[in-house]
Amino acid sequence: MTDKRYELLFVDDEPANLQKLRRTFVNRYGVHTAQSGEEALRILAGTGVDAVVTDQRMPGMTGLELLGKAREIDPSVICIVLTGYAEVNDLVEAINTGKVHKYITKPWTPEDLQVEVRDALEKRELLRENERLARELAAANERLRTENTVLRQEVESRDYPRRIVYGSREMEGILSLLRRVIGTETTVLIQGETGTGKELVARFIHAESARRDQVFIPVNCGAIPRDLVESEFFGHAKGAFTGAATEKKGYFEMADGGTIFLDEIGEAPPELQVKLLRVIQEGEVMPVGRHQPRKVDVRIIASTNRDLRVEVEEGRFRQDLFFRINVFSVTIPPLRARRDDILPLAEFFLRHFSRKLNREEGRLGEEARRRLLEHSWPGNVRELQNEIERLALLAEPGGEIGPELLSDNVRQRRPPSRPPGGDLKAAVRELEDGMIRAAMERFDKNKSRVARALGISRQSLIEKLQRMGG
Ligand SMILES: Nc1ncnc2c1ncn2[C@@H]1O[C@H](COP(=O)(O)OP(=O)(O)OP(=O)(O)O)[C@@H](O)[C@H]1O
Ligand SMILES: [Mg+2]
Repeated sequence: MTDKRYELLFVDDEPANLQKLRRTFVNRYGVHTAQSGEEALRILAGTGVDAVVTDQRMPGMTGLELLGKAREIDPSVICIVLTGYAEVNDLVEAINTGKVHKYITKPWTPEDLQVEVRDALEKRELLRENERLARELAAANERLRTENTVLRQEVESRDYPRRIVYGSREMEGILSLLRRVIGTETTVLIQGETGTGKELVARFIHAESARRDQVFIPVNCGAIPRDLVESEFFGHAKGAFTGAATEKKGYFEMADGGTIFLDEIGEAPPELQVKLLRVIQEGEVMPVGRHQPRKVDVRIIASTNRDLRVEVEEGRFRQDLFFRINVFSVTIPPLRARRDDILPLAEFFLRHFSRKLNREEGRLGEEARRRLLEHSWPGNVRELQNEIERLALLAEPGGEIGPELLSDNVRQRRPPSRPPGGDLKAAVRELEDGMIRAAMERFDKNKSRVARALGISRQSLIEKLQRMGG
């Protein structure tokens, strides 16, 4: 078998030995010879050599010294030492620590030496192949991870309704505000309590924007372990740290061309805040272990259920980042502050879940409606959604839904317990609003009858209704 792909370098101070070595290998491999370590190093520096076979005892540099330097030039070079029996002890350590692959005691036969060299070359080939496969696997995994992130968000988006359901002036106002920024590239900050629909609104903005055919990548800023934050968001170069077998794209690069949704940005740890500021200011990311930034074209939508102003005042959120994020902000009111959304949402969810269950949709009875309207919904739309999902399961197909099917929390008419010391005026107003709404519903919006039922003047009812925005 000839394999001229491989270049061998033989080193021996005896010309006669070099002759013999050359004769043994010249038909199969590319052969170089040197009479000293110094000469060998010159050759090594100039040509790619696959294996060095050297005599141990030479004037000047020893074989081991030469091999040490050869490995500095090329760590993957195969190192074989030819040595007399008496010197083997000197080599033990070099062999044990892997600095020498093989030692061969003199006198050697050409056949033995040929076998050893071929063996060593084959082993190295296998090792390289393994490394290549491992790299490919890591790269494939990384591609999968990226694809997964994108696919997962596509699946999740199916859980979100295509449209924002509402019946209140508050939401109508918010939607008309949003229309002003939808067609632009403006950063939008969405504030609101848990379950008010912040993510739905973010998806809506994306779906209505020019980027609608590109990806929407939601990322929870508080949920990623601190030591992973940087590489998750901004990616890393191959070899940036142990375990970084391939280059990895961060969320920002994944979202390139589309929209990134920075969910719960108020929970971003300080390190992340600094880096987010940079992306927003420069429009580029700096993957870990790279020295050149990469441009990204990403629209940013952020959400928070904390009051970011307070977070800034108390030193938990960077003011400069706040200014960059707070270009255009909307606050989605809690459901209890936009009660006109409750029934439209309840009906929407009832239809949705009945379809899902493949059942004829029931009708919400008057009493059930009243209880839904009176409940304070601390979990907002998500709580209402869960409540209705339950109803859809329990209800008689096509039948009327009475209050007895509601969960205890919602059915109980006493006002929900409040933290001691809460705002008395707000509480009174809430109770008042609830009673007025219930009476309006009951008496078919006949203001005189409602006022009489509540024991107030018609004029005062009208004023209250105006305040309530109804
Ligand atoms: N106006 C709405 N119309 C239809 N569905 C809504 C509306 N508002 C909220 N939802 C639904 O309520 C659920 C909660 O909404 P979303 O996840 O957007 O809330 P969130 O404010 O992001 O909540 P959290 O702060 O808990 O993350 C979702 O299933 C969403 O589809
Ligand atoms: Mg959310």
